[in-house]
Amino acid sequence: MEYQVLRERLCRTPALAGPLPGFDPRNAPPEPGPLFAHWLADALDDGVPEPHVMTLSTADPAGRPSSRVLMLRGFQLDAGRLDFVFASEAASRKGRELGANPYAALNWYWPRHGRQIRATGRVTALDRRAAREDFLGRGEPSRIAGFTGLMSAQLPGTDPYPEYQRARVRAREIIAADPQAVPEGHTVYALRADEAEFFQGDSGPDRFHRRLRYARDGERWTRGMLWP
Ligand SMILES: Cc1cc2nc3c(=O)[nH]c(=O)nc-3n(C[C@H](O)[C@H](O)[C@H](O)COP(=O)(O)O)c2cc1C
Repeated sequence: MEYQVLRERLCRTPALAGPLPGFDPRNAPPEPGPLFAHWLADALDDGVPEPHVMTLSTADPAGRPSSRVLMLRGFQLDAGRLDFVFASEAASRKGRELGANPYAALNWYWPRHGRQIRATGRVTALDRRAAREDFLGRGEPSRIAGFTGLMSAQLPGTDPYPEYQRARVRAREIIAADPQAVPEGHTVYALRADEAEFFQGDSGPDRFHRRLRYARDGERWTRGMLWP
């Protein structure tokens, strides 16, 4: 592979190419929830690929961050609160990091609209009922995957495929024996936003990207614009 050619292609690849929608922060709602819902609906309506996919960043006890992509399973707006819901395995790296340090960040980027949203806040694990509902609402392939192994643990050896297949056979057996079985570590989490920033890219010559940041103060939100 010609890395130099690849580097040149990288530099020539456009971002925020447009045309992009406008965004006038003066008309933005006083709270971030309705704006999130509005932008998400726009993304779904306009066929933005996988708009429910987001990046979750956590940090270990020494403050070293790590990120990975997850699915947004839902969101709740209620009395000034904005919660983003996702599901994972408590024993995974992210689950262990959240256990030690519950503060995390979420990020979405919807290229077709040149929109980025980020939210930070404290994450809590919801109760077992939520985990059960989430897990049992999934299709069989996802439930088999949920029982297949210990997410983020090291697979043994250098050719672990047979081990993986054995784990899948065991997972199928567990589900066949009890279709209502839920893995112990399957957990639904909610990040309660204490900050949310909405970035609307500007593909025009001014490149005046609008950045509107909301910060939570108890049940109230304050908002202000940031330099792009
Ligand atoms: C499009 C996409 C969606 C994903 N959705 C989830 C999800 O909802 N929950 C989850 O635990 N992992 C999901 N993953 C896998 C994670 O990115 C990650 O590999 C896994 O959770 C282990 O992360 P960790 O070792 O940092 O804990 C998804 C991956 C992709 C590419």
